[in-house]
Amino acid sequence: MKKATFLIVLLIVLSLVFSGMLLAQAKKGGAIAATAASVWDYLKKEGYAKNWKMWPGTTSMYQGPEPHGAFLTTYVNDAALKSINVKKGKFSDGAIIAQDNFSKDKKLKFISVMYKVKGYNAKDGDWFWAQYKLDGRVEAEGKVDECIKCHVAQKGNDYVYTSKLK
Ligand code: HEC
Repeated sequence: MKKATFLIVLLIVLSLVFSGMLLAQAKKGGAIAATAASVWDYLKKEGYAKNWKMWPGTTSMYQGPEPHGAFLTTYVNDAALKSINVKKGKFSDGAIIAQDNFSKDKKLKFISVMYKVKGYNAKDGDWFWAQYKLDGRVEAEGKVDECIKCHVAQKGNDYVYTSKLK
């Protein structure tokens, strides 16, 4: 009888540990699937434009070069912020950059996103690319040639333009 009780207790403890591990995994950035829909859900849930920091050194609605819009606001999640601040030249797995793209008359037109997913596209920096209309309609997603063709000019800076990572 005692042995059976012991086994039951062991089973309970093990299942608690296991579900704890699953929960910890789900909380990591890496747990977001590399699809436009799941990244959009995550951005909404996070309230990125309210709760995320702006890219260090940038302000709200700075004047940006084409093609993204006349005015830009660039937000970064915690993983991306850390990567920028440590100056190691690369973003870590789970880093997300979400850039609001405004027209000349300061209307929000698009949201352009880069999401670092280890192993997703090693030859082009492991970035998942997406661009959305305001209602979440997807303009582009995935390993988007059009995005990569231009951003590859910044290959030595992990494909980003906004500031030096080293
Ligand atoms: C013709 C060149 C060009 C193309 C095409 C392009 N970008 Fe960019 N992108 C830029 C430049 C230049 C910046 C810097 C703007 C700034 O000052 O933040 C930028 C900035 C960004 C940023 C902010 C991070 C960074 O690089 O500084 C994101 C996110 C982004 N682009 C996503 C995209 C996505 C997604 C696509 C494809 C749908 C795309 N870009 C296509 C030139 C381009």
